Amino acid sequence: MDKLRITGGRRLSGSLRVSGAKNAALPILAGTLLTDEPVRLANLPHLHDVTTMLELLGHLGAEVLVDECMAVEIRAREMQTLRAPYDLVRTMRASFVVLGPLLARFGRAEVSLPGGCAIGARPVDQHLKGFEALGARIDMADGYVIAEAADGLRGADFRFDLVTVGGTENLMMGAALARGTTVLRNAACEPEIVDLGNFLNAMGARVRGHGTPEIVIDGVERLHGCAWRVMPDRVEAGTYLIAAAATGGRIRLTDVHPGDLTAVLDKLAESGAEIATGPDWIELDMHGRRPRAVDIDTAPYPGFPTDMQAQYLALNAIADGTSHVTETIFENRFMHVQELNRLGANIELASVSHAVVHGVPRLKAAPVMATDLRASFSLVVAGLVADGTTVIDRIYHIDRGYETIEEKLQTLGADVERISG
Ligand code: EPZ
Repeated sequence: MDKLRITGGRRLSGSLRVSGAKNAALPILAGTLLTDEPVRLANLPHLHDVTTMLELLGHLGAEVLVDECMAVEIRAREMQTLRAPYDLVRTMRASFVVLGPLLARFGRAEVSLPGGCAIGARPVDQHLKGFEALGARIDMADGYVIAEAADGLRGADFRFDLVTVGGTENLMMGAALARGTTVLRNAACEPEIVDLGNFLNAMGARVRGHGTPEIVIDGVERLHGCAWRVMPDRVEAGTYLIAAAATGGRIRLTDVHPGDLTAVLDKLAESGAEIATGPDWIELDMHGRRPRAVDIDTAPYPGFPTDMQAQYLALNAIADGTSHVTETIFENRFMHVQELNRLGANIELASVSHAVVHGVPRLKAAPVMATDLRASFSLVVAGLVADGTTVIDRIYHIDRGYETIEEKLQTLGADVERISG
């Protein structure tokens, strides 16, 4: 199992190109199942999760071609099976979003129930309620969801009980080929939803209102192939901004949409960072200062993203002052607290969803263990500022969501090395 060795104390400084967004790429890849024509995708990040989704598409019967520029062409002409197996769904919950495209185009889908994961129970009840509203029959057998709509899905007016990103994506894709109009209320507004809606429209779908809580989809009979460039990864961008700020450094990010990061940029400015933005770039300069502690409450977009809570907690851990961090999306997303405390942080878990962070001036290196994707990066942030050499074990979690992490950090001047094993 690979480890990451980080010797702290260097200020990050330099420029980075942001990769394509994992959380936009995954549903868009599933969306290629909606047509029998070729779909060409650019700016896919080279990540384990993307490979898993390509593997699933191949398993279902799609032809997957990768060209010399790393653009991927997918053609889902005929399916070999409509069953997404446990082995693939278990390793990556996001594979559950193949249900909508398969059901809408072929009238049937069998998708393994994803089960819980480290950050919480993460049920899929809203996805299933939505498909029932669109006329599907849902049964469970041997840990699989068996969804059937022999005469196709039909448009409906559906309100989510809570805001769900994956649920909104799954339903949007199902509704794109349904008969009649679907209205999705209390829909997620995340930028990845906007990217998916625009991608579907490039395939001939009629989606509007994506990016607002009310999405309206006029179903069409068929969709066609298209070429699409996946949006930049706002979580990767925010993560490197936070890392640079924690080290007192400066960073320029290119190929990024600053508008997608407003909540995080506002917090970084409160922490004392000087920030400048252009149409597709962001510059942050901390001028060597120690950050100020700021309170964080995670919330659905446009609120502060849960996917950057752990990294910000690490920044607050070395900030001047005490801060309160509240997680409202997932019920178990503070596993990094214990590991950060091993590095000398002083963080109290007041409840399962609320941490009180007493900023300390210095952290001290220790061996630590990655527990989930974003939590792992909080340990990287801490390692970058700690005295001595920190070894982070189980970094396969990081490789699921951060492309070439050690190369990107080295470009910024960090003393980082991957230890293969
Ligand atoms: C997406 O997960 C992201 N994943 C997550 O990113 C992100 O943390 C999350 O949205 C929230 O922003 C991808 O896009 C691939 P949800 P998703 O459905 O769609 C509950 C990362 O680090 N819920 O919006 O699975 C659920 O338990 C990952 O990159 C139900 O109760 O999240 C959670 O508490 C981790 N019933 C909340 O809603 C449902 O049917 C939000 O989940 C669906 C969800």
